[in-house]
Amino acid sequence: MKHKTIIEPFRIKVVEPINMTTEAQRRAFLKNAHYNPFLLHSSEVIVDLLTDSGTAAMSAAQWGGIMQGDESYAGASSWLKMESAIKDLTGYPYIMPVHQGRAAEHLLYTRIGGKGKVFFSNTHFDTTRANIEFSGATAIDLPVEASKHPDEISPFKGNMDVDKLVEGIEKHGAENTAAVILTVTNNSSGGQPVSMGNAREVAAVCKQYGILFILDACRIAENAWFIKHREDGFEEKTYKQIAQEMFALADGCIMSAKKDAIVNMGGFLALNDLDLAVKCRTVLIITEGYSTYGGLSGRDMEAIAQGLKEVFEPDYLDYRIKSTAYLGEGLHRHGVPVIRPIGGHAVYVDAKAFYPHLPAHEFPGQALSCELYLKGGIRCCEIGSVMFGKYDADGQLIPAEMELVRLAIPRRVYTQSHLDYVIETFEMLMGSRERAHGFKITYEPPFLRHFTARFEPVVGETAINKLEERVAAM
Ligand code: F0G
Repeated sequence: MKHKTIIEPFRIKVVEPINMTTEAQRRAFLKNAHYNPFLLHSSEVIVDLLTDSGTAAMSAAQWGGIMQGDESYAGASSWLKMESAIKDLTGYPYIMPVHQGRAAEHLLYTRIGGKGKVFFSNTHFDTTRANIEFSGATAIDLPVEASKHPDEISPFKGNMDVDKLVEGIEKHGAENTAAVILTVTNNSSGGQPVSMGNAREVAAVCKQYGILFILDACRIAENAWFIKHREDGFEEKTYKQIAQEMFALADGCIMSAKKDAIVNMGGFLALNDLDLAVKCRTVLIITEGYSTYGGLSGRDMEAIAQGLKEVFEPDYLDYRIKSTAYLGEGLHRHGVPVIRPIGGHAVYVDAKAFYPHLPAHEFPGQALSCELYLKGGIRCCEIGSVMFGKYDADGQLIPAEMELVRLAIPRRVYTQSHLDYVIETFEMLMGSRERAHGFKITYEPPFLRHFTARFEPVVGETAINKLEERVAAM
């Protein structure tokens, strides 16, 4: 007999108390936060699934490295360790440290972007899109059709639609195509993996048209787990070898180390091309810091070098992917509509299906994140029309393709009992779905509005009226 329980492959050496709150307290906290969980204080949260970014628990070896951080301005030994870990992993010769992923995006995409340029991706992450649009260029998402069907079981729903890529390049012209970005795993499209086959095809198209091919590699170790277990021909390869094979297909990568380098801060840009690297490095020095620290402390760079090794350990990756699936499959068993198969770093709940009575302009994903907070103190993130909605010329909302709520799991932070608690909270919400109400936006900034937007409940227009109608008809 095999064990069913997925035990965390670590012992806990340091603990951080959780502030337990009541529903009444949380109601007040949420109102103060203008119904935007991003505006809550972390002390008001019980289980924080807002993001898996920078929220990891570091290992004893990483903390040990912190004490050895070399804080020299130039040529620090910690930088040399980080640089060599990245070169060894990616094979790219020119490495630039940055304080986090979006800084690398800014360095590269503002160099190669600008008005009239287009970028294609399986799905641009929100900061990727924002950096591209900020430069004046256009970001076009080309996810495969399967990614639009939450129930369709398919092994690599994170892939890019290669036929549409060719069409897009032909339409806009290879000379206007700044880059093709493959995001592995595909965060904004359900955290779904990308196959090596797909990466090879994308690489071949880029080569044929002479277009720069960049990997957004922040979850490449998790992606490698899926390739090893789902794609033919990779059973015998190590996770690291799989990642190396994918890096070798591209011309460079951007990585937020806050994900698969299992650290709290950091990132890098790595490139094959010297001319492009020199252009980016100039801006790096102006905006981030000297080229051997780029906004990071020596101690951060030590932790990154160590984390990039730990993340490929088979026991770690096995636990990581299986515990995410444990949460997702548990919710599925209770009838919660989730994107399946479950992705690597997060479970995505289909809020449109969970609250069918709430129209997109009342933001069902926002409603679900608020309900989860009220019922269980669980914080999560809307990935729907709040994050990606736009307005037409008349100011009407153009909704996002899907209304999702993401339960992102910090690395090595929560145990199985925390995940059971989340499942129980959903069970409670299932019984009162019809009573949930929508939200309207009362304030929003021009870019990345989900971080700071303010909301007010829309009570009376849909949920309550519908409930009264139903009661009257009984
Ligand atoms: N690319 C992807 C695919 C990401 O998921 C993120 C961040 C970034 C780039 C930017 O990296 O935060 O270090 O500047 N994702 C976080 C998240 C914020 O919650 O998914 P960053």
